[in-house]
This record gives sequence, C-alpha cells and structure tokens, in this order.
Amino acid sequence: MLSVAKHVHGVRASGIRKFFDIVAEMTDVISLGVGEPDFATPWNMREACIWSLEKGYTNYTSNWGMLELRELICQHLEGLYGVSYSPANQVLVTVGVSEALDLVFRAILDPGDEVVIFDPCYVSYGPCVSFSHGVPVHVPTTVDQGFVPTPEQFRAAITPRTKAVLVAFPSNPTGAVADRETLQKIVDIAREADIFVVSDEIYDRLVYRAPHVCVAALDGAYDRTILLGGFSKSYAMTGLRIGYAAGPPDVIEAMMKIHQYVTLCAPITAQKAAIEALRYGEDSVREMRDEYNRRRRLIVKRFNDCGMPCMDPGGAFYAFPSVKDFGLSSEEFAERLLYEKRVVVVPGSAFGECGEGYVRASYATAIDRIEEAASRIADFVKSLPRAVAVG
Ligand SMILES: Cc1ncc(COP(=O)(O)O)c(C=O)c1O
Repeated sequence: MLSVAKHVHGVRASGIRKFFDIVAEMTDVISLGVGEPDFATPWNMREACIWSLEKGYTNYTSNWGMLELRELICQHLEGLYGVSYSPANQVLVTVGVSEALDLVFRAILDPGDEVVIFDPCYVSYGPCVSFSHGVPVHVPTTVDQGFVPTPEQFRAAITPRTKAVLVAFPSNPTGAVADRETLQKIVDIAREADIFVVSDEIYDRLVYRAPHVCVAALDGAYDRTILLGGFSKSYAMTGLRIGYAAGPPDVIEAMMKIHQYVTLCAPITAQKAAIEALRYGEDSVREMRDEYNRRRRLIVKRFNDCGMPCMDPGGAFYAFPSVKDFGLSSEEFAERLLYEKRVVVVPGSAFGECGEGYVRASYATAIDRIEEAASRIADFVKSLPRAVAVG
C-alpha cells in the first residue's frame, strides 16, 4: 500500500493551528495567539522592497545570499557580540530561521543521532530533527528554574548518540532568558561531549532586563556553534521570510549544499529589505522593543493580579502564565476562553509535555487590545468554579 514515510507520518501536526482555524470563523476575537509582531514592517524597509521591484531586481542572487547582505550580517554580529565570521563561507542567507533550522539538522545529523532540546520549546524543533532522521531528546524545565535548564539536566541527557544541543534564548514560548554563566556551562559540557551547539537567537534584539548573551561568543563555543538569526521578529518582517546561519565553514558549506539544491536563494526583495534593516533599522528596533517592554509589564501584572501566576519574561514577546489552579487542562482552558470570552491564547502543551498547565500569550498586540483581553481573561477566571480566591 502507498504510504508516506514513517518518520514524517509519526510527527504530529502543530497544536497551534487548530485554534487559528476556529478563530477564522469567529468575530470580535482578540488574539494573543500568534507569535508575530503587530507592527507593519518599518516604512524604509518596505520602501527598499518597492524600490528594488521598480528597479527590476527580481532575479536569483548568489546561493549564499547577496554579498552586501552577508557582509552587513558579519559587521552586525561583530559589532553587537564581538564574534567574527567571514562573509565568504561562514554566513548563509536563508528563508527565515525556519529554513536555517531545517538545513542545520540535515547538515549535521546521521540517522539516529540525538539532539537535546529543552522544553517547553518552539514547535518546530522536534519535527525538524525528526525530518532529518534524527531523534529529539526533550528535557523538561520548570518555572522554578525559570524555564532554563540546569547543567546537570543537560549532562544527564547526553548519550553516545548525542550530536547536538539546541539552545534557544530568549525562549518561545516562555520568554525565559538564560544568564551568561548557565550558557557557558552548557557550552563547556558540549565541549566535553564534543557535540554541536545550535543556537536559535531570533529574539536576540528583544531583551528587556540584561544585554543578550550570544552563545557563539562564549569561551570555547565558536568552533562548534551554529548561530541562527533572523529579521522576522526584530524588524517585524515575518512575511518577507529572511534569516541566516553563521558558523564553522564546514557546517555552513554543508547547509549551503542542501540550500542550493532545494531553495536556490532567499527572495531578492527580502534581501534588499534586510540590507536596509541592518543599515538603517536600529531606531525602529529600539522603538518596537520599548513598546513591547511596556506591554510586557502590563500583561504580566494583569495575569498575576487575576490569579494566573506568571514568570517575568526577560525577552521575546510572550508571557507564559500558569492555569494549574483551575482544574482544566491548558487546552480546555484555551478552548473555553476562546468560546466564552473570545480571547486566543495557545495551550502550553503545544510546546512540549512540561508546557501543560500553562498558556502562551503573545504581547505583540496593541496595548488597548491587551487591556481588553486581560479584562476578559480576569472575568473568565472568576467564573471558573475551582478558581483560587485572589486578593
Ligand atoms: C524561536 C523561533 N525560532 C524560529 C522561528 C521562525 O522564524 P522565521 O520567521 O525566521 O522563519 C520562530 C517563529 O515564530 C521562533 O519563535
């Protein structure tokens, strides 16, 4: 009988989509569901796209991405984090961090190789490893540890088949940020075990309490770290689909080999926008970050006030409050909240088993919408029979 490949069949569909399908049929819904900036791409970047189309730049670029863009990415990383990459063979421009994630695992994994992933985590990590014939090894973290793994947890997850560890701070879905010391310990353990470190730093510019720590810049990390970076979140460019990978030449060249056969290159229009972003986008990043920070403080306070304990997230644009006191699974909570109050949050279980008991609320939403959503959520929580009394 005809059938799709087992390693693809075995991966379950994303838990996020279901809610968006329901929402599409409803009116007066406030969505804290999507992980995407509510801002339009800053005007100068949109203008760069328009200008490039007017000029007729609609061709393929180098498979690696335009040299000018690769040079700017290198300057950007050097300037922000002091890590040096060669634009010639250490930076690959990709179709979002999504493509970079796919490529990196295809480039480094042999069938059966394991990748340590810390949960709760972004929905694509496990599937990308599985699609590359690898084995995701999910390590749970808890709110008590700030959703940051301990070195002991990481060490215990390593086996002779471990090929890589995936580090992703600031985190989607928890907003957690790992401190320098913890990240250094993770790198030290990766070195001892001689495994790769894949670091998804797509939210690097969206940090609110302390400067971002770039994993590749840590002691002993550079030669084994593949840094994945993007434009979607920092520059509100999700739909333009552009990102990059930077790392050791042999890995980047292997990723490039796959990329050149399956994608050819990232869209030129988006590359032009990314060039504009790196040249003149800094003020926009700052303005958007300040606004997210204002919303972050508001939403976290509102969750805590209504009896949904919420960790103070240090980065990204997600709050991850607990719903454990209400006697509902996170999916039931999210579903009832949607039907009864028309507010979308994502069940924490979509991000791994240890996400159960939490929901993810994105604050990439206008502040008046957050206020309204928070009031609806507070009403909903009050109506739940098993809600804990809140002062
Ligand atoms: C942690 C993380 N990594 C990667 C991605 C994919 O981003 P891109 O738009 O660059 O493909 C996302 C998108 O939500 C994300 O949250």
